[in-house]
Amino acid sequence: MIIAIDGPAAAGKGTLSRRLAAHYGFHHLDTGLTYRAVARALIEAGQPLDDERTAEGFAEAVDLAGLDRSVLSAHAIGEAASRIAVMPAVRQALVRAQRRFAETPPGAVLDGRDIGTVVCPQAPVKLYVTASAEVRARRRFDEMTATGQTADFLEVLADIRKRDQRDMERADSPLRPAPDAHLIDTSEMSIEAAFLAAKTFVDAALKP
Ligand code: CDP
Ligand code: CDP
Repeated sequence: MIIAIDGPAAAGKGTLSRRLAAHYGFHHLDTGLTYRAVARALIEAGQPLDDERTAEGFAEAVDLAGLDRSVLSAHAIGEAASRIAVMPAVRQALVRAQRRFAETPPGAVLDGRDIGTVVCPQAPVKLYVTASAEVRARRRFDEMTATGQTADFLEVLADIRKRDQRDMERADSPLRPAPDAHLIDTSEMSIEAAFLAAKTFVDAALKP
């Protein structure tokens, strides 16, 4: 069983994916962390973010077992990740590793931007999770202030819009719903309501 979850930044993909994985006993991979790991490794090594061959080498070295959200969560790493994510060679290397993960029994939940369209187009359940840019910016803003970071709401909103544009307009694997994806708009939904909506689709697919 593969559950593919895509959508823009701060739509609630990770929260929903972790909840579904715990409920069904499936493995979970936040594929955004794989792009973040490449970006962080390049920055740490003092390498440029615009050299595809160098970035490809770092992408091939990413170890899915060693992805640590706490060291990859910085805002600057997310921004750098969306820049190296436009490179086809980087994407190919990471997609290979993501596809291997998706086959782990008894099932896997993968969330990102291109899971239903490119990584696992055969997934029996595809969800496209979204919310308005304002709501997503508010969530990110609240997360930042709750962790003691100073943040400016309008700056966070501008960043969200810039990232949406880069993710939706790139040539390779742009963010868009797969034709057979179920849409879940969480703008006015609690985490619980989003989980229950998703569960209905998964249960229907699991029915013999
Ligand atoms: O957590 P947030 O939604 O801010 O971003 P993320 O999921 O950590 O992803 C960071 C960046 O990696 C995104 O802006 C995308 O450009 C890229 N990404 C991608 O291209 N394909 C994926 N399957 C996952 C992430
Ligand atoms: O993974 P992605 O970037 O799409 O979003 P997330 O990190 O799962 O969620 C961003 C924030 O929105 C978190 O602080 C969640 O608690 C909150 N949230 C949500 O995920 N779903 C809702 N229906 C409402 C709020």
